[in-house]
Amino acid sequence: MKTDVNPYFMKKDYLYNEIADNIANKINTGVLKAGEKLPSVRNLSAEHGISINTAKRIFLELEGRSLIRSKPQSGYFVSPPNYLQLPLAAASQPIPIANNREPDQLMNKVYSTMGRRDLTLFSIGVPSGSLLPTAKLKKEIVLATQELSDGGTAYEPLQGNIKLRRMVAVRSLAWGGNLNEDEVVTTNGCMNALVLCLMALTKPGDTLALESPCYPGILQLAVSLGLKVLEIATDPITGIDIEALKKLLSEIKVCLLVPNFNTPLGYCMPDENKRKIVSLLAKHHIPLIEDDTYGDLHFGTQRPKCCKSFDLDGNVLWCGSVSKTLAPGFRVGWVAPGKYKEQIIKLKLIHSLSSTAIINEAVGNFLLTGKYENHLRKLRRSLTENYQQYAAIIADHFPEGTKISRPQGGLALWVEFPKHIDTGKLYNYALKLQISISPGRIFTLQDQFHHCMRLCIGLPWSNELALKLKQLGKLAKALL
Ligand SMILES: Cc1ncc(COP(=O)(O)O)c(C=O)c1O
Repeated sequence: MKTDVNPYFMKKDYLYNEIADNIANKINTGVLKAGEKLPSVRNLSAEHGISINTAKRIFLELEGRSLIRSKPQSGYFVSPPNYLQLPLAAASQPIPIANNREPDQLMNKVYSTMGRRDLTLFSIGVPSGSLLPTAKLKKEIVLATQELSDGGTAYEPLQGNIKLRRMVAVRSLAWGGNLNEDEVVTTNGCMNALVLCLMALTKPGDTLALESPCYPGILQLAVSLGLKVLEIATDPITGIDIEALKKLLSEIKVCLLVPNFNTPLGYCMPDENKRKIVSLLAKHHIPLIEDDTYGDLHFGTQRPKCCKSFDLDGNVLWCGSVSKTLAPGFRVGWVAPGKYKEQIIKLKLIHSLSSTAIINEAVGNFLLTGKYENHLRKLRRSLTENYQQYAAIIADHFPEGTKISRPQGGLALWVEFPKHIDTGKLYNYALKLQISISPGRIFTLQDQFHHCMRLCIGLPWSNELALKLKQLGKLAKALL
């Protein structure tokens, strides 16, 4: 629960984001055209009554989102690369009726390729091992074994490793969370956090509202718990359509969102929308499970806020992990469950008892030393550059009429082909060339996204990767 929020900080921060988002919006909607010159730092500062430093930060933020470029001694210009001229993927229009259809068979097929080294895995949303600080983590594990009095053989305290919980709480200051360690419960990855939250809040037959398209693991989990899934229309830049959600509130038991760098669309829900949705759901007594696994992977300079930042009464269960930033195989995650903490701890006791002590200690130490921040800076730079490289190849080598998302962070790029290209077929053809993609239909329980696919941008850039992308484009053209 929030207490000592500094209103001055909030106001300044809000203004900064608002101006940056406003300019970004004008670029994304074509009001500001590629190559167009932007106001000088001095003019932006005078126009909005902000300091020169804040104006500079806004330009850096937009540069980080690849929307503008600076030219020495000339100022800032809207980025000219061809990928910005690729049309934006459409907003989704799912049928507003809850269903519990079995997920598409393709889902298991795609995920069965996980870990295969003979394939180029555009399909799995994790950073490649070569982008991770593996050697440093190995050392940290040895140290953790020495540091824990029992060598890490004993069960952990039920709520989880104290260092890790403390560091998750400390890091929450960056997104306006202001958590303390007592508010955090560790879990075996984010998926386990989501399982515990859904088990605590629902019973079979209840309806769960989700963004559409949605991460397949969440769809599968919902169906396995006997829930009905209500897919809500979602915009590729701003996220869930709040007006569409409002019309369906009376049916919804729980809402689960991925507001920061959502997979597959990559958007970051604007702060104002986060604020609105938190207050709307609280008013209707609908708990919000917030999956923030990608929140640290921002392409811009600033870590986005979370819905949890606007939670006044403990109605938001904020979940995260290090799977997308550090080590998917470590299975280190957490939840700050707000007013549902007791239920979550009880379920943790029943279903997992303890996490792996050594690994949680090692990750706690890694976060403590600042090595994590250094690593994140590098990882974020690689992902931003990858997005630009992928998009440039898509612009030049994919079928005419291809649209893409404009991820503002995270690991996913959503590609929308002309309507008659079936990405289920593309999946089969691509596999013959040792390429694996995620076809759009696995991101829904409805009949949609057949002509879409998600590409993971967490692979190290190389000529070979560029070649694989070009091959994908060629295959797609052959399906025209
Ligand atoms: C939105 C989302 N939530 C949760 C997960 C699973 O995270 P973890 O590996 O920490 O369980 C994923 C993995 O792709 C994901 O995309």
